[in-house]
Amino acid sequence: ALAPRAAGVLAGRHVLVTAGPTHEPIDPVRYIANRSSGKQGFAIAAALAELGARVTLVAGPVALATPAGVDRVDVETAAEMAAAVGAALPADAAVMVAAVADWRVEQAAAQKLKKDAAAPAPLALVANPDILAGLSTDPRRPRLLVGFAAETEQVVAHATAKRARKGADWIVANDVSGDVMGGDANAVQLVTAQGFETWERLPKAAVAARLAERIAAALAG
Ligand code: CTP
Ligand code: CA
Repeated sequence: ALAPRAAGVLAGRHVLVTAGPTHEPIDPVRYIANRSSGKQGFAIAAALAELGARVTLVAGPVALATPAGVDRVDVETAAEMAAAVGAALPADAAVMVAAVADWRVEQAAAQKLKKDAAAPAPLALVANPDILAGLSTDPRRPRLLVGFAAETEQVVAHATAKRARKGADWIVANDVSGDVMGGDANAVQLVTAQGFETWERLPKAAVAARLAERIAAALAG
């Protein structure tokens, strides 16, 4: 008889990952969005699945193939992402990599806005729900809650404040002052209750593999 396939260190665990931007409609053909390729989040979903986790990947609009063994839920807006995250619970861990739009247009136009008007009406914006902060106070909060923070300056200081404000266990702080956006490498610092570590600049797949190993170790402990 064949030997059973070795179970991965995350076998039996469910991990939720958000990735990509959200699109907030202005009218049927226009939207507000954050800059995000989704590459880092998709790489993390792939790395978690490789370690044997059941992975739910809630993805905003991106041009990426679904990683092997990952359950993907496509969404467009922050409100849809929040609903999909809630529907995916419970989870042992959640990794919120998505670049969620902080605001949406209060009332998207039903018809395409025409430029023949003298000047466009100012867009009235309202705040989107903070999905990560909401998860941290949810009765079904995952045991390990990991957020990301894209920063252009004072990276660790901003990420440390974000960790406290949002009730996350870890924040992966991302220095986006260089050419990270859409690229294949990432320079990150991992902020935890113990302080922070600086990882060397690595391919996004290597950042993902290292983070997945750390998540596995935390869930085992
Ligand atoms: N996040 C979220 N829902 C939002 C906004 C952010 O879940 N509406 C999550 C992101 O997925 C990320 C973390 O919160 O894991 C940090 O996002 P970021 O935009 O850096 O933080 P903000 O609190 O929105 O602060 P700011 O944009 O002002 O830097
Ligand atoms: Ca934000």
